[in-house]
Amino acid sequence: MAAQSLNNLTSLGAGVLGGQIAWHSAFYGKNVVVYDLYNDSIDACKIAHQTYADIYKKEMGGTDESIAQTHARLSYTTDLAAAVADADIVIESVPEVPEIKSDFYKRLAKVLPEHTIIATNSSTLLPSQFAQDTGRPEKYCALHFANLIWKMNLAETMSHPTTSYETLLATAQFAVEIGMIPIPIQKEQNGYVCNTMTVTLLNAAQTLVTNGISTPEYIDRVHMIIHRGCAAGPCALIDVVGMATWHNVLTHWGKELKDDQMTANAAYIKEHFLDKGLQGLQGGEGYYKYPNPSFAAPDFIDVPDVSIAEEIARLSMPS
Ligand SMILES: NC(=O)c1ccc[n+]([C@@H]2O[C@H](COP(=O)([O-])OP(=O)(O)OC[C@H]3O[C@@H](n4cnc5c(N)ncnc54)[C@H](O)[C@@H]3O)[C@@H](O)[C@H]2O)c1
Repeated sequence: MAAQSLNNLTSLGAGVLGGQIAWHSAFYGKNVVVYDLYNDSIDACKIAHQTYADIYKKEMGGTDESIAQTHARLSYTTDLAAAVADADIVIESVPEVPEIKSDFYKRLAKVLPEHTIIATNSSTLLPSQFAQDTGRPEKYCALHFANLIWKMNLAETMSHPTTSYETLLATAQFAVEIGMIPIPIQKEQNGYVCNTMTVTLLNAAQTLVTNGISTPEYIDRVHMIIHRGCAAGPCALIDVVGMATWHNVLTHWGKELKDDQMTANAAYIKEHFLDKGLQGLQGGEGYYKYPNPSFAAPDFIDVPDVSIAEEIARLSMPS
């Protein structure tokens, strides 16, 4: 039996993913409030939404009218109580740092209406870690989206031991109503299906960079040659994820798994990107420079001119 539609969404966190979930849901007809702790993040989100307006016109069949309606369905605030006052569902996209999420849920619990469902968009943490902090474990689950939500349109649903069936039903229905392909996760799993595979790949690529084994362009070339037809390699994907979130993931899991290589990878990202103000795709530069990154050139994985031999020999010399 269908659940009642969840029409009022509050997107908690206005960063890369919170901004995308908010825009996309509004495009699909939901009323959306965007909340963030910081005014600067709200301002950056509004700018991102202007960019998405162009993308949705080009790639999602958006018209002047539907884009105007999308803007009209969106509002923005740094007042948490006001942000959630009318919410049927809130989707949490605050930083991938357990202490921040835990504190945030405790604040949220004090102001959230009784009927509201909470979904976490965490990339790698488990709902059972935070269920008690929410004050409503039965109305709490994960609904995990992928970056570039309009074309990577999957949504993974994951429960913890006391999530109710009604919560999962309404959440899965919400996902379909906003154009997602829902993917059920049958047991709690750090990283769901998507990031169990993706974090492993990205961390492997990161290790090759950190340890000076190869360069981002050559690593991505290998990936794109052995997966002919795919549009990007793992270093380009790291840019899409964003350096702040990638750093949080590596830092947390390096410590949790006592994995020194992951911890070294986190330090590399901090030194080479975050300390220089480079955020990845959303900020215009990460491993590549945007809007015209070299991996997107039509000849990126063509057989190169023979003059490349000098560069290949130099880079292959014993170090
Ligand atoms: N980036 C990705 O590719 C991706 C994909 C899927 C899921 N996620 C998950 O989504 C969540 C957010 O990731 P992101 O990449 O959007 O991060 P982000 O750094 O781009 O955005 C986080 C936002 O949270 C805000 N914030 C910081 N502290 C806060 C607090 N105490 N209360 C409220 N807001 C606060 C920041 O101002 C920022 O706008 C993480 O759990 C991440 O794992 C990220």
